[in-house]
Amino acid sequence: MSEKYIIQPSSNLSGNIVVPGDKSISHRSLILLSISEGIGHINGLLESEDCLATLDIFKLLDINIAKSSNSSYVVNGKGLYGLSKPNQDLNCGNSGTSMRLLTGLLSAQKFSCNLFGDNSLSERPMERISLPLSLMSADISLSENNTAPIKILPVKEITPIEYKMPIDSAQIKSSIILASLYAKSETKIFENIPTRDHTENMINYLGGNIDKKSNQITIHPNNKLIAKDINVPGDISSAMFVIVGCIISKNSQVIIKNVGLNDLRTGGIEILKLMGANIELKNIKYYGLEKVGDIIVHSSKLKGITIPEKYIASAIDEFPALFIASANAFGETILNNASELKFKESNRLSVMSEGLTLCGINNNLNDDGIVIQGGKISGSTIDSKGDHRVAMAFSIAGLVSSENITILNTKNVSTSFPDFHNLMKALGLNIRREIS
Ligand code: S3P
Repeated sequence: MSEKYIIQPSSNLSGNIVVPGDKSISHRSLILLSISEGIGHINGLLESEDCLATLDIFKLLDINIAKSSNSSYVVNGKGLYGLSKPNQDLNCGNSGTSMRLLTGLLSAQKFSCNLFGDNSLSERPMERISLPLSLMSADISLSENNTAPIKILPVKEITPIEYKMPIDSAQIKSSIILASLYAKSETKIFENIPTRDHTENMINYLGGNIDKKSNQITIHPNNKLIAKDINVPGDISSAMFVIVGCIISKNSQVIIKNVGLNDLRTGGIEILKLMGANIELKNIKYYGLEKVGDIIVHSSKLKGITIPEKYIASAIDEFPALFIASANAFGETILNNASELKFKESNRLSVMSEGLTLCGINNNLNDDGIVIQGGKISGSTIDSKGDHRVAMAFSIAGLVSSENITILNTKNVSTSFPDFHNLMKALGLNIRREIS
């Protein structure tokens, strides 16, 4: 079965909305409540395919997780040593977060297990986690290409490490942190540029002991996690499609309520502000240790910029949307030092570059970035290559295109934003979903 979107040039976006729950926080709430002691409720869990893959895996590890009401779940945590050997291989689907974080956690258990994923996930690099985990004495084997499937064997003990991160990646950091919960003394991680710290925040919220000092993270031993209720804020990476759509279309204003605004996730907002976007953050509050607030966006005139390197890690998922913003800006937008974009659900540098070219936007692809010349988006047919964020990015391009934009291969939008087309339609996007 294949799915596509057809977007007719639309006029504007307006409304007052909430976006689905944060994907990173949803994964972590399932993982960390499963290894906490006692019962915890998750309110606002993202019910997307990626997070449901994590949920199903914990059921196979013998954790009782039940839906209590609309997007609320109850997790019966069994503590750090309560997981059981699964009776089948664990399917991570399209979800890199599930695979990388769970490899860290499962490499410290007293049973063997295997993890696998879909075609896209099976091509993504996994040596980035198996190397540091092996330094911690974990017994992990990958395929010949250093990808999934991943085989994990139990080891006598997990040894602590001091690890300087070669790549700015919260998934690698979190994988190490989850394994280090089982080490007898402290593990230290040094980051080049800080990445999202939801794992550290949630472990501390649940009574664990992690110190964060600028780029240095210290995980102290004897962490015992005690279950607490977790409220999941809206996902800023999903909100970004609404934000950019609103900015580039005329006479638009959107309010997005209760979005996660962790400082290590707001690089996309900072980049858009540098480009001249009119964005306000209001009603700031906290869900546990996570900053949350409302985002108010208006149509804005954008100018091209050189994207500062310091914002890349905190905007890593927002580049497909930011490239559409750049295509609508006056002048040139330059991105360098972003080779990590090649290792997402697709090679987001080349797939976005091809799509922009098909839409009549001049751009030059480099080894670690892209230069985009602002212009007029024409109609086209774009293959998203099964990448959810590429599909959503070209959908909002349809707000300002001169002709229809058709986006092929959109099924995976449900990995992060299950009701995207209905929510965008309600805001004013002229979007039709066709399943054949
Ligand atoms: C994530 C970290 C990022 C991001 C992904 C979610 C996480 O990946 O792209 O969507 O939840 O830790 P990397 O750590 O590979 O940059």
